[in-house]
Amino acid sequence: MVTSTQQNILTVDAEAVVVGVFSDSGMTNPAMAIDRAGGGLLARLIESKEVAGKPYELTSLWSPPGLKAPLALVVGLGEQARFDQGMAYRAAAAAARQLAGRQRGRVAFYLPGGPNGEFTASGISGALVGCQGQDLYRAEKKRHPIGEIAWAEASDAALAAGNIIGENINLARLLVNEPPQEIFPASFTARAAEIAQECGLEIEIWDQDRLERERCGSLLAVAQGSVRPPRLVMLRHSGGRPDQRPLAFIGKGVTFDSGGLSLKPSDSMKTMKCDMAGAATVLAALTAISRLKLPVNVVGIAGLVENMPSGSAMKLGDVLTARNGKTIEVQNTDAEGRLVLADVLDVALGLKPSKMVDLATLTGACVVALGVDVAGAMTNRQAWCDEVLAAARTCGEPLWQLPMFAEYRDDIRSEVADIRNTGDGRWAGAIAGGKFLEEFVGDVPWVHLDIAGPAFYDKPKPWLDAGGSGMFVRTLVELARTHSGN
Ligand code: BES
Ligand code: MN
Ligand code: ZN
Repeated sequence: MVTSTQQNILTVDAEAVVVGVFSDSGMTNPAMAIDRAGGGLLARLIESKEVAGKPYELTSLWSPPGLKAPLALVVGLGEQARFDQGMAYRAAAAAARQLAGRQRGRVAFYLPGGPNGEFTASGISGALVGCQGQDLYRAEKKRHPIGEIAWAEASDAALAAGNIIGENINLARLLVNEPPQEIFPASFTARAAEIAQECGLEIEIWDQDRLERERCGSLLAVAQGSVRPPRLVMLRHSGGRPDQRPLAFIGKGVTFDSGGLSLKPSDSMKTMKCDMAGAATVLAALTAISRLKLPVNVVGIAGLVENMPSGSAMKLGDVLTARNGKTIEVQNTDAEGRLVLADVLDVALGLKPSKMVDLATLTGACVVALGVDVAGAMTNRQAWCDEVLAAARTCGEPLWQLPMFAEYRDDIRSEVADIRNTGDGRWAGAIAGGKFLEEFVGDVPWVHLDIAGPAFYDKPKPWLDAGGSGMFVRTLVELARTHSGN
């Protein structure tokens, strides 16, 4: 947990202090204090371009003169005018990641919080996220949680928000990073139940029986190849007026995606434990929203299945009947996420949401289109999509909209059933996924986030170890916040 400190940077009790330097305007005030105490040490480093203030650049100053702490870590913040929540988050995470490289006691952060402290909470979250790694099962860890993180000039509200959001980003990352023999539908919902109990979320879990009674034929078809029975979980936070329609967040929870009979090549399958990242994001966001006591009604729903090939697996050519009555011709069992979401979206509609957002590691095509760092957004209502894009921009989580022209509907036309579960060959695969999901959202304003790229890093970033990223937890919380009181 991050606590606050009022102590002066020169005399603070800490093993290390963290200060920032901009690439254009140079030292922040705390950096200047170190510079003055050290007789212009930092100014000389900047002068000689040893310290340039580029994003995530890290420079360790050992035993800087005039400082009680034995180490000052200088982190680059980029251009001052572009400093935002995203940069505050990632710069703090980069510094924490470096410091967590070995066991440490107390560390004090003196990073800028923006003109009105509006970036402080993001920085605090970043510091918590930077010191958690993915080496859950290694004897010798790469990251060691910092004993105590102290933050200068943090309001109580920023501290609370930063801690809660940071902890829940780490929860989402942990659930993604846990191996698939640990996280499967029933174990995921068991964890969700524990968490819901702790933070006071209402929870409802549907087992195989209930899913059958609810005629979730599309989700069940994906699950039928696995010995692990499926689950659906609903979480409810009622912070708003009783008559206020809830926001609905919906997550794809494929706890392992082998591709089914349309088996993935081994290399593509290696990281497919990440295919429940949407569900993890929704659980983490609902937990954070509940702990922040936001005055808004939100429901979170996730469909949990394992996609496996077996004698009982669904086949190519099978025709499924989804919960909303539409028939689906299966053309590729690896396009399973949309089959799961089809029924989960219909369950969500039953809760009369005002607006919906689904999050899914849905298509490799989205990664081809936008790269590994950017998620794709698709919508049936531009005004709602604009709000989601704005929330993502506020948080510094990269999101880019893809078109949903009516013509794309042809891509999912079937000769046998109402629709088929794949698009037209190689083209516009991410959008075909979006068009498929659109068939299941009725008239409710909806945004689909294809997070196949940024949900899971194959390689480490300067600010984060490889593995689950927890990306879009912050955007969902921001959406709930901007909707408060509506
Ligand atoms: N889970 C995958 C998508 C994915 C790819 C997630 C890479 C994360 C990283 C999804 O279920 C899938 O297999 N999609 C297919 C769809 C196709 C068969 C229409 C794909 O992208 O190839
Ligand atoms: Mn798949
Ligand atoms: Zn998948």
